Amino acid sequence: MISVLAGNWKMYGSKEDLNVWFEDFFRNAVEFEKNNLVEEVPTIMICVPSIYVEYAMQLANEYNSKTNKLKVFIGGQDCHYEDKGAFTGNISPLFFNEFGCKYVITGHSERRQYESETDEIVSKKSINAIKNFLTPLVCIGESLEIRESKQHLEFIKEQVIKSLKGVDLENAIIAYEPVWAIGTGKVPSLEDIEEMNSHIKAVVLEEFGIKNIKVLYGGSVKSSNINGISQLKSVDGVLVGGASLKGEEFFNIFRNSL
Ligand code: PGA
Repeated sequence: MISVLAGNWKMYGSKEDLNVWFEDFFRNAVEFEKNNLVEEVPTIMICVPSIYVEYAMQLANEYNSKTNKLKVFIGGQDCHYEDKGAFTGNISPLFFNEFGCKYVITGHSERRQYESETDEIVSKKSINAIKNFLTPLVCIGESLEIRESKQHLEFIKEQVIKSLKGVDLENAIIAYEPVWAIGTGKVPSLEDIEEMNSHIKAVVLEEFGIKNIKVLYGGSVKSSNINGISQLKSVDGVLVGGASLKGEEFFNIFRNSL
């Protein structure tokens, strides 16, 4: 069973979309709890655009009171490596703190690609997130070119070492997201996901001496392919983009992961 189910809304959504999402997700969640003995559930979260964090937290507090076990947490999509300063347009982890938000994505490939974030910046951001009581979901992943040239294991090793340098790994989660699988509908074979996720765990153990790091898989996950992915031994959870935008589909990902 997966222990983390995280959604990444990217630059999508609106207040109305959030209203509909919570209604749909929790209609299904309440029904599910009525008909099933629910013992263990994953940590379920959606990482929404920062401007909607406050509103999403309000909805989460309201809707979470309707269920016993199935709760939704809210996360951010990026935070700065400083707490405050002259950084126009950036988001301090302190802002998330103020609303009781507990998770933040760092190092997503779209930020690495379009905002020129380096491994060093990703590590600084992740360190600052943890200092401010947020759990970072630190993203790593190779391009298609690297995969095709069979350099992916070596590339990811280096990305893990550099992006996690100085990060307190007891309080971080890694998300392996091959860039070529994001938003493309292409998913690596189950063997390839298992190979990479266990490789990442081995690198973390060898380099940092940490055994129980959680490693998620992300890239074109949906309700129709979660089942195989969620059964993999080294997959502790999933980070879902497009398919997290609809409450019912996201709920179905949870259901089909069981
Ligand atoms: P996708 O995105 O599920 O739409 O492929 C995943 C992500 O970018 O986190």
